Amino acid sequence: MTSRPEDPKTVGALVAWARQSLDTVGAASAPQEALWLLASALEMEHHALVSRTEQSVTAAQLTRAKTLVSRRVAREPVQYIMGTQEFCGLDFVVTPAVLIPRPETELLVHAVLKEGGLTDGAIIVDVGTGSGCIAVTLATILEGGRILAVDCSAEALVVAKGNAVRHGVGEKIVWIEGDLLSPLRDRHMVGTVDVIVSNPPYIAEGEWAQLQPEVRNFEPRLALLAGQRGTEFHERLFRDSKEFLVPDGLLVMEIGQGQLALVRHAAEQTGGYTGLQTIKDEAGIDRVMIARRAR
Ligand SMILES: C[S@@+](CC[C@H](N)C(=O)[O-])C[C@H]1O[C@@H](n2cnc3c(N)ncnc32)[C@H](O)[C@@H]1O
Repeated sequence: MTSRPEDPKTVGALVAWARQSLDTVGAASAPQEALWLLASALEMEHHALVSRTEQSVTAAQLTRAKTLVSRRVAREPVQYIMGTQEFCGLDFVVTPAVLIPRPETELLVHAVLKEGGLTDGAIIVDVGTGSGCIAVTLATILEGGRILAVDCSAEALVVAKGNAVRHGVGEKIVWIEGDLLSPLRDRHMVGTVDVIVSNPPYIAEGEWAQLQPEVRNFEPRLALLAGQRGTEFHERLFRDSKEFLVPDGLLVMEIGQGQLALVRHAAEQTGGYTGLQTIKDEAGIDRVMIARRAR
């Protein structure tokens, strides 16, 4: 990138330019994102960006700043640009191979801990682990449990394993590449699992075009898109989990806005579950479905 006479010459001018550039594309929190991107490009702390406004920027700093800001202006999520996202207080590496963990998914972790009745040796399976945010968080909290994490994406599993090592639980999780719960069959795990937790893809095909460009153009389609109804993965999980859960075992799934009736119907159609419960997210949307394998 070549420099031009009108290019910002000081830290203060660069911050103002970055904010304005991000504002024009409607970035949700332009001032905050500008500071994150510039802190990385200039290798400065946030507080220095706002206190050392008269400091000159070097040509190399300007080039890095322009590169990062132009990626965000092209609607790439800030988390992919920075390479991390916080989840349950832990920092997770994210690449375009994995969904960026969302705050509402933390509700799944809370539900497993609250409702799972987990004893030493309990078996937990995280289906569609992505960045590993659920499995890794649980592994950092639980002492004696056995955690398996499944994903059909080999690239996602590489990221998830890296996150487990980053948080010191690399040895506590078994990573499995495969389709939903099918790999458990070969492992002779029928009727042995205490908790199945999943944030499955749940975007209906018809909703795809309305997704924000950050999601539609950058996050993995495989992580998002279900089928015509959006609840196809929930339906499969209800059907398949019955085979693997112990009696009273817990199934915890994230659901999309407006999907409660369809997901509840799927549970009733499948049969074999009791204690259906839902948990709302901060926006008041039914976000988590909990069911127990009938005895
Ligand atoms: C919505 S993302 C959830 C990722 C992560 N658990 C989270 O909450 O951020 C769904 C994940 O399911 C995986 N997936 C999609 N279809 C699958 C299948 N048939 N079997 C296993 N995993 C699947 C995707 O690769 C993706 O990582």
